[in-house]
Amino acid sequence: MSVADLPRSWPQPEPEALELSERLAASLRERIAASDDGWMPFDTWMEAALYTPGLGYYAGGAAKFGGAGDFVTAPVVSPLFAWTLARDVARILRAGGDTVLEFGPGDGQLCVELLQELAELDALPEHYLLLERSASLRARQEEALQALPEEVRRRVYWLDAPPQDKVRGVILANEVADALPVRRFQRTEDGVLELGVELADDGGFRWGTRARDDLAGHVAALETVLGRRLQPGYESEYHQQLPGWINVLSDSLHWGICLVIDYGYPRDEYYHPQRRQGTLMCHYRHRAHPDPFLLPGLQDITAFVDFTAMAEVGQEAGMDVLGYTAQAHYLMGAGITQVLEARMRAADEAASLRLSQQAKTLMLPGEMGERFQVLGLGRGCEEALAGFSMYNRLERL
Ligand SMILES: C[S@@+](CC[C@H](N)C(=O)[O-])C[C@H]1O[C@@H](n2cnc3c(N)ncnc32)[C@H](O)[C@@H]1O
Repeated sequence: MSVADLPRSWPQPEPEALELSERLAASLRERIAASDDGWMPFDTWMEAALYTPGLGYYAGGAAKFGGAGDFVTAPVVSPLFAWTLARDVARILRAGGDTVLEFGPGDGQLCVELLQELAELDALPEHYLLLERSASLRARQEEALQALPEEVRRRVYWLDAPPQDKVRGVILANEVADALPVRRFQRTEDGVLELGVELADDGGFRWGTRARDDLAGHVAALETVLGRRLQPGYESEYHQQLPGWINVLSDSLHWGICLVIDYGYPRDEYYHPQRRQGTLMCHYRHRAHPDPFLLPGLQDITAFVDFTAMAEVGQEAGMDVLGYTAQAHYLMGAGITQVLEARMRAADEAASLRLSQQAKTLMLPGEMGERFQVLGLGRGCEEALAGFSMYNRLERL
């Protein structure tokens, strides 16, 4: 796939961006050609496309979030997200926490707005830690933090690795799990094949399959817990890195809560018979599509997450599964209506209209309200989260 495959009505990349993408594609081509069987597992492709230093989507310098970028996340849609989340974060900090740790802070907006609101609520943490694997995003976060007064900004630290001193307080990860590279599989009549990437005759990339026993074993175990066999031809994702990542969150938490917010489903819905193509999704300039080979390094590649798997790993790691609900219900429970009313009263007509539109984007089922889910994990923390007070669907996991 190349720029020639980009639909004509889509924005074309700038020449410099295209050059970077071609460099990344060339290095991927070389790696595939040099491999024993002319094939690259999909998780290796996704890792390279997103994180190759200087060239990968998250490792390059281009705008990703918002109008000029490729997609929006809840903190980018509206400060209402951070202002509302701040209510639950403040609750935990007042109950004995002193730190917030945010994984994958993106452009830093959630951090800035959360700290501003926590200052208003007189519940500032002693430390706000950011763990970001992209150097270019870290630079953006540093820039965004200039909006904060020095007294607040000095509480923020970047970590290069999970904290050695475990956190007492809150761990947040909004849209991070979906960016973890996934393996892909295809069920056949009599087995399971791993989906990966081969070189196409036109110099581009195409899907190819190989037999891999370990992945077949994972899918067999999955079918056992589902209590049914997936249909021949069924394709989906296996999140090999998810358990390790949840364990990192767990190992980072001494006392408090951990909120994982993302698009995903409980396991039985994730592997629903009708979801025959899996959940892989790519974003290029606000166009969502399923082709991960388009313009390597210039588009985001994501997969929905299996919330049941995350809850199970959290539980095995000794955390309590506190809640699971749709983003809309979480925000309602946490008080978005009151936050919105108060902000609208203080705003002029245009700003007030903007806020109510943003609230719709965060809340409506056809927008982010249902697609995004919130999983709450906790350790030693008795404090109830308001976000799960309205509609906790733990039994769905
Ligand atoms: C889709 S963006 C979400 C950004 C932000 N949380 C938001 O909601 O706007 C994914 C973020 O996760 C980061 N990331 C991906 N894998 C990570 C990991 N293993 N640890 C920390 N950050 C990670 C990416 O670099 C990026 O900042």
